[in-house]
Amino acid sequence: MVTNMAGKHLITLQEWTKQEIDTCLDTAYDLKLKMARRIPHASLRDETVFMMFFDESTRTRNSTEAGATQLGAHAHFLDASKMQIQHGDSAKDTAMILSSYGHAIACRHCGWGTGNSYIREMAKYSRVPVLNLQCDLYHPMQGLADLMTIQEHFGRTQTRGLKVSIIWCYATTHKKPISVPLTQALLFPRYGMEVTLAYPEGYELPEWVIEQARVNAEENGGSIRISHDIRQAFEDADVVIPKNWGSWYADSKKETVENREGNTTLTEAELEKLARNKSWKCTQDLMDLTSAHSIYMHALPADRVNEVEDSVIDGPHSIIYQEAENRLHTVKAVMDLTMGGRR
Ligand code: CP
Repeated sequence: MVTNMAGKHLITLQEWTKQEIDTCLDTAYDLKLKMARRIPHASLRDETVFMMFFDESTRTRNSTEAGATQLGAHAHFLDASKMQIQHGDSAKDTAMILSSYGHAIACRHCGWGTGNSYIREMAKYSRVPVLNLQCDLYHPMQGLADLMTIQEHFGRTQTRGLKVSIIWCYATTHKKPISVPLTQALLFPRYGMEVTLAYPEGYELPEWVIEQARVNAEENGGSIRISHDIRQAFEDADVVIPKNWGSWYADSKKETVENREGNTTLTEAELEKLARNKSWKCTQDLMDLTSAHSIYMHALPADRVNEVEDSVIDGPHSIIYQEAENRLHTVKAVMDLTMGGRR
């Protein structure tokens, strides 16, 4: 248990100790119970969190905003495209100014090669905690909710040895960042899980992630293996997390193009690579290979046509709504612990 986390940034869980993560989960369990029992828990009365969004959101925005209200704080929603960023306000300017008005700055910025560095630049100058609501590299709030959900299902102390498969799946909905699988690949081995990372060639995560995940596994009794065989990933798995992610390599090499509206689209080569892997889909047949008590997870939004069959995502193994609900309890825990302190 860590008793003082006030003022702490959350950019990646890799920069939080296990004790800090466990303290956060203790707090999330407590807040979940308080909510269920309608026990008031306004620990952040009169505080303000600024929520800057460069990208769309349902779960992250609403769990943070509702969570702030429940903690007695106020959350300002800031659409980054309506701020003065285009007219010259830098990350430093924004952080210096917003942190003089309130008690936390929470930000989602998934731009490849820019999101994480923008958030880190704000953290450098902010006098209050900067909370990452997803960037090009990390989605710590999703990671916390996923860990809590796995613990709730299998037992808080029973994660060691669980077979967890993070599986790339085909999707056409939108180009998804690597931040969810990257966060899970780093976090789950720290809790002793045996992680399989499965994907078709061309959708690998950066090598430094795998190296760090191996270190995390060695230090905590977990493991990480790579597979290019979707069936192998499902066989005997206790937890399956089939989800699309983009090609970080293509993104980092700028093998994407911008259309007239300024949106990033895939090049012909990237589209062909994607189409070649249409068979990477979570089906009932594949779910039948998993262990009897397995769970299906997805951070959402899911591409129900291409990523997963309805019979799976709406089926008995699916715990997607519990996972989504835990976004509320975990972000409340993060705000409860980190806000209220100034640097
Ligand atoms: N999982 C997740 O972050 O959902 P949103 O994009 O809706 O916030």
